[in-house]
Amino acid sequence: MPILKRSVGIVGLGRIGSRCAYSLALSGAADDLVLYDIDGKRANSEASDIGDAVAYMAHRVTVSTGDYSVLARCDIVVMAAGIISDSKDRLSLLEGNLQIADGIVDGLMAQGFDGILIVITNPCDVLAFRAAQRLGLPYGRVFSTGTALDSARLRGQLSLTTGIDHKAISALVMGEHGASQVIPWSAVTIYGRTLASLAAADARFDIPRDDIRDKVLNGAWTAVDGKGVAEYGVAAALTRCIQAIFHDEKAVIPVSTALRGEYGVSGVFAGVPAILGKNGVEGVIELRLTDAELAAFRASCETLKEKQENRSPAF
Ligand code: 2OP
Repeated sequence: MPILKRSVGIVGLGRIGSRCAYSLALSGAADDLVLYDIDGKRANSEASDIGDAVAYMAHRVTVSTGDYSVLARCDIVVMAAGIISDSKDRLSLLEGNLQIADGIVDGLMAQGFDGILIVITNPCDVLAFRAAQRLGLPYGRVFSTGTALDSARLRGQLSLTTGIDHKAISALVMGEHGASQVIPWSAVTIYGRTLASLAAADARFDIPRDDIRDKVLNGAWTAVDGKGVAEYGVAAALTRCIQAIFHDEKAVIPVSTALRGEYGVSGVFAGVPAILGKNGVEGVIELRLTDAELAAFRASCETLKEKQENRSPAF
């Protein structure tokens, strides 16, 4: 009987890619990690350093380096290479990261990659769209962590404000992983109850929405401010997505995926509640948003589309 190894390749081993690798090893989400960086020495050092920690981890994992011929045989490849900046406009990174992202896709295509590609390089929605277009893999096999990260920040803020555990809070951020993102407040539930119904009985749930929105929007920059990078949140979001895929969970996680008419939008990748299973994104959940939320979501998609259409034909 063949023993299946869950393999993940990571391209780009800066602070973020390395943190993702460590998170995947520590969590046991992957059995086999393949690291690649244009700086081969750096990849070797990361593989060796993470390898030194495996003896004390709860799960066995092999960590090695490999080129595109090895990466292309991985079940999942993570695109983590690219420039980062403290500019609050992630879309402004497109100019610098487009070529890097295209190079990664070229490398995978040349080796016949047939797995799942998860893009975390910013602007992640636009780069995931572009990668999907170029790779031509079936629907759902290319996506971005997108607003999974912002959604974690939102649940964190709601937990701080209400004193209730994150896990009892269902809340998400939709649209761009960036400035035009939308919090659909109508979809926030705590212990399965809407904020409005909770607030009617307990003032604790009459939460300062604008303040929370600001904190969610600025979560990245709060981290970047003191140490130059935001790394733990995205590593955790990525790890959660990969667990859902390898365990074929059909878990609903907000990620950036192709819209094909959902919410009246198509031809764009944007953050929506998506079903994650062994095929990557296996569907999109259409929430009943208020008119204002739907309009804001569509506006966010338009912002992303403008960037896409400037550089590529229709999806
Ligand atoms: C983040 O939100 C900067 O996109 C990165 O942490």
